[in-house]
Amino acid sequence: MSGLDLTAEQARLLDGAEGKMVQRLMRLLVRLGQVFGASRLVPISSAQVSGVSYKSIGDPGLDFLEDVAGQGARVRIRTTLNPAGMDLERWRELGFPEPFAAKQQRIIAAFQQIGIHPTATCTPYLAGNLPQRGDHIAWAESSAVSYANSVLGARTNREGGPGALAAAICGCTPLYGLHLDEGRRATVHVAMEADLGSRADFGALGNHVGRLVRDGIPYFSGIPEAGVDDLKALGAAMAASGAVGLYHVEGLTPEAGDQDPAGLETITVARRHLEETYARLNTGESSAPDLLVVGCPHASLEEISRVAGLVEGGKLTRQLWVCTSRVAREEAARAGFVSIIEEAGGRVVADTCMVVAPIEQMGIGATAVDSGKAAHYLPGFCKQRVTFGDLDRLIQEALK
Ligand code: F3S
Repeated sequence: MSGLDLTAEQARLLDGAEGKMVQRLMRLLVRLGQVFGASRLVPISSAQVSGVSYKSIGDPGLDFLEDVAGQGARVRIRTTLNPAGMDLERWRELGFPEPFAAKQQRIIAAFQQIGIHPTATCTPYLAGNLPQRGDHIAWAESSAVSYANSVLGARTNREGGPGALAAAICGCTPLYGLHLDEGRRATVHVAMEADLGSRADFGALGNHVGRLVRDGIPYFSGIPEAGVDDLKALGAAMAASGAVGLYHVEGLTPEAGDQDPAGLETITVARRHLEETYARLNTGESSAPDLLVVGCPHASLEEISRVAGLVEGGKLTRQLWVCTSRVAREEAARAGFVSIIEEAGGRVVADTCMVVAPIEQMGIGATAVDSGKAAHYLPGFCKQRVTFGDLDRLIQEALK
């Protein structure tokens, strides 16, 4: 007895009607449901699977995926991938090591055999996987989870890679946490007293608040306006320094009006907190960066256009990567932004990012970013010295 109220189809999968691998993955979902006190498994409309870069999952992950594919398990719903460890088309030109590329290609082939389209991005919502408010989904990339829950009003927990893959193959996920109304209520009020002047400021704010609230659900007041790219930067940084899967912004996000901040603990954020965050995350100011990277989370068309406007007609004195989805790269190419950036010496890189690519094996030791999430991960995950600041300034410095 699972203790969960399973549908006939779910019980059939659990009984092994579709083979041992599907049964094993269904058992994983049931076990997760038991651990987290779910009453049942809810059907989902989309999945987003992490653990795609060979740098992240290594040979054990590759072996597991080839086993899943080889045993005939296939996804039942629209499923996309997190970034891979390299640009899947231009890896050679960009200098990715051949042995790494060979392993990465096997990982992608296994995912394709499982039925997943190799859209490798942390912004699936900008690349055709766009859930609607109230949809139950199972996404694994923490920044995408935050965006889906907070900005789109869809419902997903912060899945791990195996949990999201199991959900994609079984078509369901345990109903608990952020899938439930009661799991989506704000737990802490963040009162903004500082103006947010750049996208980097949103990242710095996210980094600061994530450290304070951990896995809480912040309700922000005092942010009169923010674009979707600002919210993407804010959520990504909170999900990295903390474990925030959902936040609300007064007057801006779809479920903010359902919240009542009265009675919640209040955290006040002033300009000095952001300055302290910049100081803490800037570990590389003393040396010029080898690489400037834009696009964490993956750059939108608007962000690519902004970079093109800043570099147009200039010559970059250091490497520039604009990381994005293949879909956005193709749109940017049609709009002429890719050629402007590449004529200035930059590269618009698809399918990967500076954190999951093996940049430390490619002669890069110092990186400049305008992302609070990237600034958080690059020192530990990629052994980088980091310059974290406003995009306009970073590009001006790279053009000198
Ligand atoms: Fe995306 Fe990589 Fe940043 S996966 S959110 S660009 S660390």
